[in-house]
Amino acid sequence: MTDLLAIAKTLVAPGKGILAADESTVTANKRLALYGVEGTEENRRVGRDLFLNAPGIEEYLSGVILYSETLAQKGNDGVLFTKSLAARGIIPGIKVDEGTEPFPESPDELITRGVLGLCERLSGFHETYHTGFTKWRAVVRIEGDRLPTAQALVENAKRLATYARDVQEVAMVPIIEPEMLYEGNHSRVRAKQVLEATLKSVFDALADHSVDLSGVILKTAMVLSGHESGRMDTPEEVANDTIEVLMANVPASVPGIVFLSGGQSPDQATENLRAIAKAAKEKGAPWPLTFSYARALQEEALEAWAGKEENIPAARAAFLARLKKVSEALTA
Ligand code: 13P
Repeated sequence: MTDLLAIAKTLVAPGKGILAADESTVTANKRLALYGVEGTEENRRVGRDLFLNAPGIEEYLSGVILYSETLAQKGNDGVLFTKSLAARGIIPGIKVDEGTEPFPESPDELITRGVLGLCERLSGFHETYHTGFTKWRAVVRIEGDRLPTAQALVENAKRLATYARDVQEVAMVPIIEPEMLYEGNHSRVRAKQVLEATLKSVFDALADHSVDLSGVILKTAMVLSGHESGRMDTPEEVANDTIEVLMANVPASVPGIVFLSGGQSPDQATENLRAIAKAAKEKGAPWPLTFSYARALQEEALEAWAGKEENIPAARAAFLARLKKVSEALTA
């Protein structure tokens, strides 16, 4: 278990965070299409190379979450991505859930697939690619007082806990991500209640499954008013509510908490993280906090790239500039 704690601590080392580059093929193609890039396997590989082989990222990144397609791919230098990341001290991780499907008991909600055959898949990733950690994402949708239902929260939490226990058995750190969606017109008060209920179900399930909390990382959304609510919260509002819920519901033995960006703009995700880091310090939060963004770290670079080789230096410069801002926000 000591090894798990060491990996977890490395992932949340001061000033560093995690790049989520684990979009499934379908999601990766949709993102590329936004910037006029055709969703072929080669374009996805070149797009990953832009980020994963950008010089200097090791100053800001402790880990990268990859999708299974990327694990087996090589960069433009002919070296496996996982190898070149590890050579720069960046821990490669792997998303191991198999996406979502409607929950039969409440079909407007989603449950995450992938428990079947998980143990075999895990040992393959670990032995072949030396991944140090994994991710499993559950989705929590808010709709008025109707959603989420208690049943969906409990079922997703049970699967997260089963996953976490299996991952720890093969000596990797599970990132536990119950993502409360930003989409919707709910208030920040409602988001706060839902995050509270979500975390309660998750930590109850982790206890029921005897998961070692000192060897997990929690990945969470911030407490925000819904994207379609017409309300833009101040960073201080977001930070106070987020830290309050986390301090009331996340045991101090958890070695770190990381945030997803959830569809916030890169600046919004940076400023909210800055306020959260400040509030955590002021209130004596027991765990290190950092970022594990996908969109907020990638958007500006993908826009600069637009699929053109000659734009790669500018795209990498945009990526590095955002990483620097987000990293500095942690220690401001
Ligand atoms: P975003 O930062 O784009 O929300 O993605 C993070 C993530 O890993 C979602 O599962």
